[in-house]
Amino acid sequence: MNTIDAETLRSWLEEGRQVIVLDVRSAADRASWAIPGSLHVDAYAELKAHNPHALDSLSLPSDVPVVTVCNSGYTSQIASKQLIARGIEAHSLEGGMQAWSLSWNTADVPLPSSSAEVIQIRRVGKGCLSYLIGSQDKAVVIDAALQPEVYLDLAQSRGWSITAVLDTHIHADHLSRSRLLAERSDATVYLPDQERVRYPFTALHDGFTINVGVVALTAIQTPGHTQESMSYLLDRQALFTGDTLFLQGVGRPDLHASAEEARAHAHLLYQTLQHLLALPGHTLILPGHANAPMPFDKIPLTASLGDLRNQVKLLQLSESEFVETLVSRIPPVPPNHERIIELNEAGSLIENPIELEAGANNCAIS
Ligand SMILES: [Fe+2]
Repeated sequence: MNTIDAETLRSWLEEGRQVIVLDVRSAADRASWAIPGSLHVDAYAELKAHNPHALDSLSLPSDVPVVTVCNSGYTSQIASKQLIARGIEAHSLEGGMQAWSLSWNTADVPLPSSSAEVIQIRRVGKGCLSYLIGSQDKAVVIDAALQPEVYLDLAQSRGWSITAVLDTHIHADHLSRSRLLAERSDATVYLPDQERVRYPFTALHDGFTINVGVVALTAIQTPGHTQESMSYLLDRQALFTGDTLFLQGVGRPDLHASAEEARAHAHLLYQTLQHLLALPGHTLILPGHANAPMPFDKIPLTASLGDLRNQVKLLQLSESEFVETLVSRIPPVPPNHERIIELNEAGSLIENPIELEAGANNCAIS
């Protein structure tokens, strides 16, 4: 069977190789998450029924390889066989979108006035953003959401050793890899001060500073999305906001909270955002999630605080308007979020987290 694994497809896309990614899932499945730049044909039912004409309406160039994709890699094999029969070089993505969940790409974040280098590491299969910040020969990772080797290899390629690993909050949509990364790199785990996480960590309080090489990361308490949420300010240049402030919206206030608590969290989030909006307009905002699959374009997902102030409507509302809008727009809860929170509090990673983490992240309200 002509298949390729997710890492091979990831590297092809990263190299900019000519390839057509053909998504054969139903429109409903595709709506939750997709591979950036992929072509869609809603042929799922017909392929499953082994209709040999399922892809007949599709016209494809014969000189560009095709990678067929479905949910778990079975229906895409039927599709690739049909394309091969038409003389097209076709491969089926092993494990489908489930396996793609751990795919990633990177973008360098330009910070002209800081001596730090920042790499945005994007879990393209899910929308989680983490950051590797290096200065001299040291580095820190914020919100590790991928297997430790990704961060270790990137750090090594720049001549950095990872000395600190931070989370912005206790995540509900994916398993934090921070504890495991810290173990592999002999780094210290820093977490916002709270009493929920049950493995050893160094607690961060508002104003606490972590030095990396010659630069400083300062913790700013930013409750609202969750009670313990923190943002980290790098050299007064860039602010890593986790799920507090995104490029199109703000964090949802309801996870791990009752309806009444969600309303109280929305008030807290409003106060937090007012506090952040007082920072200089040139501060670069680096959020913890993206709301759409990020292309392999090496362009970082970031915006200045001044631009967000103008673009994000929610930031222009009064406190009561903000709270009412937020509670009226609460999106569906991430699948398995209670179990994910439990594992993040315990610091446990399970053997195969992909199924547990399946689905798009739903952390934002815009
Ligand atoms: Fe979150």
